[in-house]
Amino acid sequence: MDPLQAKQQMTLAEFRSLRDYIYAKSGIFFSESKQYFLENRLSKRIGDLNLRSYADYMSLLQGSQGPAELKRLFVEITTNETSFWRNPPQIEAFQNLVLPDAAKLARERGQSRLRIWSAACSSGEEPYTLAMICQELKDTVLRGFTVEILGTDISEKVLALAQDGVYNSYTLRNLTPEQLNRHFTALGKDLFQVKPELQRFTSLKNFNLVDYASYRQLGTFDIIFCRNVLIYFDEAVKTRVLQEFHSQLHTKAYLLVGHSESIHAFNTGFELLHFSKAMGYRKRT
Ligand SMILES: C[S@@+](CC[C@H](N)C(=O)[O-])C[C@H]1O[C@@H](n2cnc3c(N)ncnc32)[C@H](O)[C@@H]1O
Repeated sequence: MDPLQAKQQMTLAEFRSLRDYIYAKSGIFFSESKQYFLENRLSKRIGDLNLRSYADYMSLLQGSQGPAELKRLFVEITTNETSFWRNPPQIEAFQNLVLPDAAKLARERGQSRLRIWSAACSSGEEPYTLAMICQELKDTVLRGFTVEILGTDISEKVLALAQDGVYNSYTLRNLTPEQLNRHFTALGKDLFQVKPELQRFTSLKNFNLVDYASYRQLGTFDIIFCRNVLIYFDEAVKTRVLQEFHSQLHTKAYLLVGHSESIHAFNTGFELLHFSKAMGYRKRT
């Protein structure tokens, strides 16, 4: 779009139809106060596509080019903020309590594989944080286990970044110099690449949390991290996603959500756990 060209205005009717479409496809719910946000996120795309209105964009989404444009729409509308070792008290609880207990439960079940899912992993900081910890505990707490970490997201753009595994010091700010040295290779000024040994047991996949029919294909997990994405969903989607997580977890397995995302208002079959300065959930039965 010509930078001098005025931003395409979105009418309330256009906003509502786009909002409903986005909600149906992703579970992300924009209240009417978010019209300006959506307009800001999409105006460049409308210009790049030479469309005259958001109504035309809606028609494009519903036409033969719809599936390809939908992937692009997900990239444009998602908020992907993340960092390594985000919410340190919860990551420490994972390292010191959750992982050892999950390993103990898995051993009792006769399992030699431990599976961890970072659902809505953005550009990879969360799954690689978990991978770093698992790598450090491989000869102690995780002795005898094959660990699999799965990172999934709806945005192909952030998944490509996760696949590259190259990060700058800002997103790595919570790591100690020892952790940085041990798990990353310096590539040049302010760029660090996650080491292949962490990438080897971390797989990345496009997965939409409202694609309820596809959860079964992911298999069963010992721990699910789903942090800072439930806030974008309404209660109906949140409840359904939590039911799906419940089905994909072993008995007594763990669910860790973001620190502002309490789920105990929902009757979900999880018990609340209090860690030092953090919370988590565990499947009851
Ligand atoms: C704020 S980031 C959180 C990243 C990481 N979990 C963390 O806490 O640092 C939210 C992520 O959720 C993803 N997301 C939003 N809706 C989704 C959906 N329906 N299915 C899968 N991922 C989704 C976004 O693409 C974004 O990368």
